Amino acid sequence: MKLVVFGANGPTGRQVTEQAVAEGHSVVAVTRRPEEFPLSDPRLRVVGADVEDPAAVERAVAGQEAVISTLGVPYSRNPVTVYSEGITHITQAMTKHGVRRLVCVTSTVLFGVSAPGETFFFRTVLEPFIARTIGRTVYDDMRRMERIVSDSHHEWTVVRPAGLFDTNAVSDYQVATSRLPGRFTSRADLGNALLREATGGRHVRAFIDVRTTEGVPSVLDVIRKEAFGGKK
Ligand SMILES: NC(=O)c1ccc[n+]([C@@H]2O[C@H](COP(=O)([O-])OP(=O)(O)OC[C@H]3O[C@@H](n4cnc5c(N)ncnc54)[C@H](OP(=O)(O)O)[C@@H]3O)[C@@H](O)[C@H]2O)c1
Repeated sequence: MKLVVFGANGPTGRQVTEQAVAEGHSVVAVTRRPEEFPLSDPRLRVVGADVEDPAAVERAVAGQEAVISTLGVPYSRNPVTVYSEGITHITQAMTKHGVRRLVCVTSTVLFGVSAPGETFFFRTVLEPFIARTIGRTVYDDMRRMERIVSDSHHEWTVVRPAGLFDTNAVSDYQVATSRLPGRFTSRADLGNALLREATGGRHVRAFIDVRTTEGVPSVLDVIRKEAFGGKK
């Protein structure tokens, strides 16, 4: 298939791009810093674009068969608009060029229920605190993006992973249309789930959760790496 990946230079975007090229798909990888993109392949075209530029987004989407968005920004005190503004330009370009399949990423927090079997402290203190304070502006904009996507006529799937961590290999991960137990999703598994959806369309017009059950880190490991490593 002909795939375009937004947020391609992020850790999840690189996983999607690498796996897609390895499976023989042709990929347009969109990043604001094309000179820094680490991958190259005859089936790969790296495009410099900011999703806040509708003309640049349209050039990337034209001629493609499916769109994968792993766009994201770290937690911030400031208002966040990249998810909603970015997906508005992406869906407008898809309509103009007749591209129907859209797969994008938000967070398991947006299920609005706590994970089955979660501890009292995590579900009543830690997660609500993060969602209502340091993560508020990111989750608010993710909700705006979900509304834009679910109101669209496109064949969309929104993937809501849990806390992300890095592994080298894809595992026997779980997928469900409701919130799954567990706190972590590997970026390799998330990348694979996004690719499976974009090329196979298993859960169209649906919100899905993806969970890694093997080799998951501890909460402290992830907070140490993701929160203080600057990624969100
Ligand atoms: N980290 C977690 O624990 C966690 C948990 C749940 C969900 N998520 C979500 O999962 C997704 C992937 O997260 P991640 O940590 O792997 O990646 P990430 O670090 O959030 O990377 C996202 C990419 O988005 C791109 N981007 C941001 N603003 C852009 C703009 N205006 N125009 C074009 N590109 C832009 C950046 O690429 P360039 O700077 O190269 O352009 C960046 O590399 C994100 O949606 C994130 O919110 C993360």
